[in-house]
Amino acid sequence: MSIQTANNKPTPFVNDWDVHLYDHRHRYVSHLATDLLQLLDPQYGEHILDLGCGTGHLTYRMTGCGAEVIGVDHSVSMIDQASHLYPHQAYPQLKFAVIDAASLAMNKQFDGVFSNAVLHWVKQPEKVLEGVWQALKPGGRFVAELGGKGNVEAIIQGICEALDEVGYPENKAFNPWYFPSIGEYSTLLEGQGFQVKVATLFDRPTPLDEGKNGLQNWMKMFASCFFQNIPSEEQEYIFKRVEKKLRSNLYRNGTWIADYKRLRIKAVKPRS
Ligand code: BEZ
Repeated sequence: MSIQTANNKPTPFVNDWDVHLYDHRHRYVSHLATDLLQLLDPQYGEHILDLGCGTGHLTYRMTGCGAEVIGVDHSVSMIDQASHLYPHQAYPQLKFAVIDAASLAMNKQFDGVFSNAVLHWVKQPEKVLEGVWQALKPGGRFVAELGGKGNVEAIIQGICEALDEVGYPENKAFNPWYFPSIGEYSTLLEGQGFQVKVATLFDRPTPLDEGKNGLQNWMKMFASCFFQNIPSEEQEYIFKRVEKKLRSNLYRNGTWIADYKRLRIKAVKPRS
């Protein structure tokens, strides 16, 4: 999806994501979403939009009940992989397209819009919600989960401290994430006209794969914005410093546990 920096310029990192690494090391992203799918509860014959579908695994699961689903993502490499894994000829109820969540302009309306673990990458939430509103039929529902207020706070603090210590304080401004509170996001939803039915913020401590390398791999995959323009040897040194700072808090029995906090919402576009 669209990653934007503090000065609102898209970064070049988005399409550099390694889709194979993403699928293998970070597969918990879609595995953890089963109850979010239950909140959407797609029905036979419904039309669903999966906003920020990544490599398409959840998009595919939504077709299990007979819904027709379009998965969209800003990342060309993610959509290439999704289309390769789930080709339209073999999965006619499933389609994929490269589209940015902040400039959604769908030419049809959907019964539901779904989004998992994506919208915290988009620093223009009003634009996202405007696009979602236009993409929904009256009575349609928007079900989403994103990082909420306080998400990965310890990790961000560790990275920022290490950047300060190693002489790159200006890189702290490259924080790419938007982690709203319940109040902030509900206000945006209501401002767009939605009725908010569910809004919860909860801790989800998340074990990272790859044992002692888990945190470093996570930083390389997701937090690379912070390290732009830093020579790779120095980046490695910074990763080690971050690990040292966070070990007592986030490392348990050989596994790094990321301090995720999820904001989950369900909102409805009223019929009139
Ligand atoms: C998240 O899912 O909360 C998340 C993933 C990667 C980077 C930051 C947050």
